[in-house]
Amino acid sequence: MKARKITEQVYWMGAVDWDRRMFDALIPLPDGTSYNSYLVQGSEKTVLLDTVDPPMEEELLDKLEGVPKIDYLVSHHAEQDHSGTLPAVLEMFPDAQIVCTTKAKGMLMDLLKLPEDAILAVEDGDTLSLGDKTLKFLYTPWVHWPETMVSYLEEDRILFSCDFFGSHIATSDLFVTDQARVYEAAKRYFAEIMMPFKSQIAKNLDKLKDLDIRMIAPSHGQIYPEPWFIMEAYKDWVHSEPRNTVVLPYVSMHGSTKMMVDHLVSSLVEKGVRVEQFNLEVTDIGKLAIALVDAGTIVLGTPTMHAGPHPYAAYCALLANVLRPKAKFLSIIGSYGWGGKTIEQLSGMISNLKVEVLEPVYNKGLPSESDLQALDQLAESIAAKHRENGFK
Ligand code: FEO
Repeated sequence: MKARKITEQVYWMGAVDWDRRMFDALIPLPDGTSYNSYLVQGSEKTVLLDTVDPPMEEELLDKLEGVPKIDYLVSHHAEQDHSGTLPAVLEMFPDAQIVCTTKAKGMLMDLLKLPEDAILAVEDGDTLSLGDKTLKFLYTPWVHWPETMVSYLEEDRILFSCDFFGSHIATSDLFVTDQARVYEAAKRYFAEIMMPFKSQIAKNLDKLKDLDIRMIAPSHGQIYPEPWFIMEAYKDWVHSEPRNTVVLPYVSMHGSTKMMVDHLVSSLVEKGVRVEQFNLEVTDIGKLAIALVDAGTIVLGTPTMHAGPHPYAAYCALLANVLRPKAKFLSIIGSYGWGGKTIEQLSGMISNLKVEVLEPVYNKGLPSESDLQALDQLAESIAAKHRENGFK
């Protein structure tokens, strides 16, 4: 794909990765992704904003063939899917200066072995004149590393946001055309890398509120010609109270835990609580992460395996612990054959979660009548907690 014009003297220079299906060996990418690099040609200076993931280096270098000079290489984020091609671009334009935050400077030197004298660290609020265009740099830490910033092109009112507001979608459409599709992809992305830093994201959103933004150009996915759409979505994910929803990831080996899950789900629904149920044997972890953004309660279901939780359940507990959703309640249900420490071990894996733990239901073999009543009691407790907290 060739360079594509966004507006006067502003171009998309990125690469679309149609085939990528996993990120960080963790995050499923069902729709591929893109690495968006942007070129801004001012009347005096030319700047390239971010690069592309190194396996797609040639895509960017080919687009740069016709560019006579680059004065600045802005690196909003030191992670290699955006910074990894900086060395190759610097080789092509040896006089270019890399521009980044003070924290990113050290990280770029560590991660890419870039020379210190090639890097200009800017402070929060600094501006860079390109002649008839001006870039303003705003520190936006923890989206999702500590060194991140965004750039605002003042004359064109474009916010270059890097990972912030991004979505993993491979498409030939430069601009958002299907908001529902982008909403889901952006929420998946938020859940997987931004959710642990909700309070910092909220501060960054607040910092942007007085900017007159006509367009948001992230470094993954499509450009937002209607930026309010994604900004409002982020505000909701960060600020809204949890919903009247139980997220129920589970695994079952011989059917006991599944019987308990089915009973609990039925009981919760009868009591007016919404449920999102995920069989960890087959589920897309990204879908589970999306559901965790709004969940009021998490109930983890697991059988006992070798005296502890099933490894899928342990993985799920550790994942939730890392993602730190805003759920306020948590419980565990499951079964065992002869004994074990499943509840204790899982409880030890969720220390980051600020949740009240509701009485687990853990039974021997197939659930008995009293076990089913305990599940009904758990459903009643969850419904009552959601009502008391005003979860909608
Ligand atoms: Fe898209 Fe944090 O890199």
